[in-house]
Amino acid sequence: MYYVRKVTDDIWWVGANDHRTHLFENIHPIPLGVSYNSYLLMDEHPALFDTTDWSVCRQMIENIEHVLDGRELEYLVINHLEPDHAASLGEVLAYWPAVKLISTKKGFMLARQFGFAVDDQECITVKEGDTFSFGKHEVTFVEAPMVHWPETMVTLDLTDGVLYSADAFGSFMANDGKLFADEVNYERDFLDEARRYLTNIVGKYGTHIQLLLGKAAKVLDKIKIIAPLHGLVWRKDLMWFIDKYDHWSKYVPEEKGVLIVYASMYGNTESAAQALAGKIVEKGMTNVKVCDVSNTHVSYLISDAFKYSHIVLASVTYNLNIYPVMHDFLDEMRLLNLQNRTFAIMENGSWACKSGDLMQKFIETNLKNTTVLNERVSMASALTPEKEGELDTMAQAIIDSMAEVSTETK
Ligand code: FEO
Repeated sequence: MYYVRKVTDDIWWVGANDHRTHLFENIHPIPLGVSYNSYLLMDEHPALFDTTDWSVCRQMIENIEHVLDGRELEYLVINHLEPDHAASLGEVLAYWPAVKLISTKKGFMLARQFGFAVDDQECITVKEGDTFSFGKHEVTFVEAPMVHWPETMVTLDLTDGVLYSADAFGSFMANDGKLFADEVNYERDFLDEARRYLTNIVGKYGTHIQLLLGKAAKVLDKIKIIAPLHGLVWRKDLMWFIDKYDHWSKYVPEEKGVLIVYASMYGNTESAAQALAGKIVEKGMTNVKVCDVSNTHVSYLISDAFKYSHIVLASVTYNLNIYPVMHDFLDEMRLLNLQNRTFAIMENGSWACKSGDLMQKFIETNLKNTTVLNERVSMASALTPEKEGELDTMAQAIIDSMAEVSTETK
């Protein structure tokens, strides 16, 4: 059965929701599903903007056929070649063999690398600032390298003010009947998954996101709708979501608050982490989240690391090193370029306690513009009541350092 929704009078969402894929990019859990958004412009010359993942190709074809209602698909604009959007390209060519393809030079290069027979089609290579008319609708192309791949572009429909934003402004989580962000409580239900998507997928490329935001700022008056390749479409409060992107891509904390991540083998480090959380809350900072690094997929930890201003790492020593899963979290923060955070360290070791020094060295060597508080808590096997004062001191140092944190992006 087809399932489509209208974005504007001439533009249809013809994508699909996916609840069967468990790991996005075969690495990030998506327990709430994901959508692959494809858009069909019904103009004098019908044009499709991107396709979908292969897993939902059949649904997309059924949707396109329904909206075309017997007309030919004349153009396919490929904003992003990653297979979660381009894998169905071959099937589109099979259904509509005369379709003309529009993409960047690198887009066509990647299409050939992935084995798509694009050279059998008429290929129109576009670059920054080029325009194209499908009849009533004129579009302009804007290059967006590394948001998310080097070939990526976004397309602005100058007639309806729709920005086909590729991966930018996307989200994990299936749409399930909703299409517009104003049809849900986005902050409550989607924001965490939007942050987890952006920070894990494109978090490394903050400067490239900033370049794209800069380009968008110059034509902001022309953008009425943001139509990403995943998640919901924005037609209201665009600046609210753009501001979130500004925070994430500048690595500015979204909120003052404390993320406590602990690595505990037998519960003793966990107990100390929980006791610290209680003391921070007692001192008035209630925006505290505690996570077990062993039971929380690192993509969720990364999302929270981008959200909160302060991060407490509490780790046992393992093989004279940082607990492996905690080390993975640290390394993900390094890979994704996280910066501008305040850290506090709790360490544990029944003998030869090493994790504290090693975590501090890792942070100071690899994460830019970070502060590691001097107030460290050290345990030998378990935190003893005599050390409660150290917990108090650390909690107070965290509270005091909040005053130096800004959540403004300027
Ligand atoms: Fe959703 Fe970079 O692909």
